[in-house]
Amino acid sequence: MSESTIAFFGATGGCANACLALTLRNGQKAVALARTPSKLTTQLLEQPGLTQEILTKTLRIQQGDATNVEDVMKTLITSTSTHGDSCQLVSTIVSGIGGAPVMTWTKANPCEKMTMRIPTLPHISLNNPHITEESTRTLLEALRRIATEYFPSFSAYASAAPRLAIISGTGIGSKNGMKDVPVLFRPMYSTLLPEPHADKSRMEALLNEERGRKESLLVGGLVIVRPSFLKGDHRIVAVGGDSGYDKLRVGTDENPAAGVGYLVDRALIGEWIFEEVVKSGGDRVQVEA
Ligand SMILES: NC(=O)c1ccc[n+]([C@@H]2O[C@H](COP(=O)([O-])OP(=O)(O)OC[C@H]3O[C@@H](n4cnc5c(N)ncnc54)[C@H](OP(=O)(O)O)[C@@H]3O)[C@@H](O)[C@H]2O)c1
Repeated sequence: MSESTIAFFGATGGCANACLALTLRNGQKAVALARTPSKLTTQLLEQPGLTQEILTKTLRIQQGDATNVEDVMKTLITSTSTHGDSCQLVSTIVSGIGGAPVMTWTKANPCEKMTMRIPTLPHISLNNPHITEESTRTLLEALRRIATEYFPSFSAYASAAPRLAIISGTGIGSKNGMKDVPVLFRPMYSTLLPEPHADKSRMEALLNEERGRKESLLVGGLVIVRPSFLKGDHRIVAVGGDSGYDKLRVGTDENPAAGVGYLVDRALIGEWIFEEVVKSGGDRVQVEA
C-alpha cells in the first residue's frame, strides 16, 4: 500500500464509518482495525457508492483489538523492508473508538463486604469504562515501538509520523470549560455522563502529555474532535446529495463557534473529518504538533 493509506479505528461506529466510506469513495487506500470484520464489511456495503470491488481494491481489514499493541502496530505499518528493520506507515489515523453505553440505576456498594449494588440516580455507564483511555495508551505504545524498532532515529520517525484525528466530546479538555456544551445539557453532565466523560478526559490528558514531550510521537499532528450529542447512523448521502454539511457549526478552542449545537449527525462528523483532516491534512483546523 502507498504512503497515503489512512488508518481507521472504531469504523463500525457511525462517525468513523462515514469517514471511511467517504475516503474509499474518494479512491484513497485505507486500513481498518475491526474486532468483527464482517460487521464492518456489511456496514460499508450499505454506503452509497461503495461496492465489494472497491473494498477489495482499496481496503485492508486488520482483525484485532484496539487494546492489543501488536494488532495496532499491524494496522499502522503498511509495508516493511525484507529485513523487517524499516517500514512505511499510514499517513493519517482516524479514531472513533468508544464504549457501548448502558443506562444504569445502581452503583457499587461503598461497603466492600457487601457485594449487592445500591440504587442511585440514572446514569450512563460503558461496557468498558476505560476504553478510550486504554486504546489511546495502546496507540501511543504502538507508535513508540514503531519509532524505536523500525526507524534509525527520532527524526526519521518524525518525517513519517502519521497525523491523528480522534473523537472526544464537548466539555472535555477544552480551554473554554463548558462553553461548548449546550446550556440545557449542562446539568446532565454531572449526573448522567460522568463515566463516559471521565474516560474521554483521561484520553485527552494522555494525548496532551504526549504532545508536550520534546520528542512527541504525535509530531505528525493532532486533531481532537469534540462533537455535541450524536444522532443518526453511519450512512452518508449519495454522490451529489445534500448532507447538510454547510450548516455544521465548527469552532476551535482559540476561535469558538458562534453558538453551540445540541445534536449532530454521526455521518456529518465523519464528513467533517474526511474534508478537514483526510483531504486537507488538518491545516485549516490548526493541527497541533
Ligand atoms: N453518543 C454521543 O452522543 C457522543 C457524543 C460525543 C462523542 N461521542 C464519542 O464519539 C465517538 C464515536 O461515536 P460513534 O457513535 O460514531 O461510535 P460508537 O458506536 O461509539 O462506536 C465505537 C467503536 O469503537 C469500537 N471499539 C470499542 N472497543 C473496541 C476495542 N477494544 N477494539 C476495537 N474496537 C473497539 C467499536 O467496535 P465494535 O463494533 O467491535 O464494538 C465501534 O467501532 C465515540 O468515542 C463516542 O464515545 C459520542
